[in-house]
Amino acid sequence: MDKDKERVEELTKLLNKYNYEYYVLNQSSVSDAEFDRLMQELQALETRRPDLKDKFSPTSRVGGMVSSEFRKITHSRMMLSLANAFSEKDLREFDRKVRQATGLREVPYMMEVKIDGLAMSLVYENGELQYAATRGDGVIGEDVTQNVITIPSVPLKIKDFRNIEIRGEVYMSKKTLNTLNAEREKRGLPLLSNARNAAAGSVRQLDSKIAAKRKLEAFWYYFVNAAECDFETHSDSLDYLQKLGFRVNPERRKCLGIEEVLDYVKEYTEKRSSLDYDIDGLVLKVDELALYDILGYTMKTPKWAIAYKFPPEEVVTKIKDIFLTVGRTGRVVPNAVLEPVRVAGSVIQRATLNNEDFVRNLDIRIGDYVYIHKAGDVIPEVSGVDLNKRNKTLPKYKFQSTCPYCHHPLVKKDSIHYCVNDMCPSRSINKLVFFISDQGMDIKGLGPSLVEDFFNLGIVTNFADFYTLADHKEEIMDMDGISEKTYNAITRTIEASKRNDAYMFLAALGIPMVGKKTSQTLMEKYQSIDNMIDASFDDLLSTPDVGMQIATNIKHYFANPQTRDQYEILKGMGINTIAIKKVVAKDNFFKGKRFVLTGTLSSASRTEMTERIEALGGKSTSSVSSMVNFLIVGENPGSKIDKARSLNIRLIYEEELLELLDEAEK
Ligand code: IVH
Repeated sequence: MDKDKERVEELTKLLNKYNYEYYVLNQSSVSDAEFDRLMQELQALETRRPDLKDKFSPTSRVGGMVSSEFRKITHSRMMLSLANAFSEKDLREFDRKVRQATGLREVPYMMEVKIDGLAMSLVYENGELQYAATRGDGVIGEDVTQNVITIPSVPLKIKDFRNIEIRGEVYMSKKTLNTLNAEREKRGLPLLSNARNAAAGSVRQLDSKIAAKRKLEAFWYYFVNAAECDFETHSDSLDYLQKLGFRVNPERRKCLGIEEVLDYVKEYTEKRSSLDYDIDGLVLKVDELALYDILGYTMKTPKWAIAYKFPPEEVVTKIKDIFLTVGRTGRVVPNAVLEPVRVAGSVIQRATLNNEDFVRNLDIRIGDYVYIHKAGDVIPEVSGVDLNKRNKTLPKYKFQSTCPYCHHPLVKKDSIHYCVNDMCPSRSINKLVFFISDQGMDIKGLGPSLVEDFFNLGIVTNFADFYTLADHKEEIMDMDGISEKTYNAITRTIEASKRNDAYMFLAALGIPMVGKKTSQTLMEKYQSIDNMIDASFDDLLSTPDVGMQIATNIKHYFANPQTRDQYEILKGMGINTIAIKKVVAKDNFFKGKRFVLTGTLSSASRTEMTERIEALGGKSTSSVSSMVNFLIVGENPGSKIDKARSLNIRLIYEEELLELLDEAEK
């Protein structure tokens, strides 16, 4: 017998056993060092004898496969989602319908926690994992096997040789998210906003080594073909999955009748924050599999299960301070500085207080304890004051009557305060920041804090100063963290911005209500900023989407000698004011199609990508509706993806997008 072969088999057995003990049973009979030693020994053996490497070897879990795209997989049975219940009343109504349809007096249910992660399907044949697939649109998902097998608890082989399909949730624990974010903060990388997005981004990594580093975990909650495999209840099928080596959530419980269900709901609403993973609700499932066919399905959801969604999470924290920000238009916004607090999966330490009326109506004071509300992906909000905790000596918050940055008296209009001083430093800085942002000239490599430093040093106090940075080379190089290389990169991109299309320049000027879209429309009509300036008020009004207010704002801006001069100076410096002729796009995939973008793209900014698609005749819109043809999905996508799924809108991920663009641009 081949000695190496024997050893490979022995090591495989041991490593699988230790993995199972550690990741599924939460206990281990071996030290980490010993585990690593055995893994390295197996890796070395497999390198020396590639013929002995099994595709299900424990070494395959460390990642290493880099794919260029994910294979599409048609689910053998549609991956459904669940209808939602938001209250005890909704749950009772669900129970009533189930009792009515089945004739049972008390229904045996199974209660589970609803993990806020990413749904996954595992398919086994002949005891071997065939693939792991994402839900996709429910009908077609993507093959992410290489990434899912980096989750150590996922069995690669099982001791059941039937065709088996299992569904569950891949997630990232709170602890892992915190550790990853602490590392990312040190390395200056953007933080992962919450566990669900972090998990979704990791599963869709093309490089499985990166996915392996993300330390994903999974719980399995649904044996799709349990009835054909002779199970009578969902609970038995889960117990069996656990025996086969799958990680099944220990928080599950059988409940007989709605009262026991409601007890579970009460208990877990409290227990929620003590779990090491985010849950956004609970799941109620009829336990008897024979009842599934009787109860049936709607288009997208089974009628034998329902998700109970927790009310938006609310926490209490202290307001340490209130400060005012003054934006480029002069709008004053009060902001609360909070004692950092974790709510609905994210740590927050700032919250907007909107305006004076908001602060006054809730009587918010510095030193107060306030309720913070957060539901899903939305921005956290202050929803009220905990008056029981108020220190009676706290003075009422008095809204300043002058601008905190220039001391100019504030003017109130429709419950919003404005600083009307055009020379206000805060407004000036924000105007400069806007000028270079992707809403304007899109000058990369120059962030808001650097602009603020330039402003405070007197290097850049108006738009034109950006184009004369070379006069301040020495001074800039003396600043912290700016190398010659950085300096050169900044000046190069600034110089290149002179050749931007005219609509970007027009938008960058910051004329009220004249954003990028309106600027584009105006430039399509007038072909140059000068033509637009010369146009009559009525002619401006006849432009699509341009109403009285916008036309007035444009006329005011160019009639004011100060702003007009600023424009002329910039033009004199060589900034392009003429619309770049659009070549009519030849027929291609994107032509005439409407698309929406969500999430962060890794190969280019959203603006750049939008421009590429628009050059091909595609049309970008901001919200998902049935008029939209496809949704482009970057990392950490928002809730648009759910909406697109519900409307059956095609999802295009970044890799596929790049291929389609290459093809269309040929
Ligand atoms: S059962 C047909 N059980 O919630 C039944 N789903 O909105 C399929 N989820 O797509 C789902 N925990 O991604 C089920 N214990 C659990 C769950 C769970 C999380 C997710 C799953 C599903 C979504 C439903």
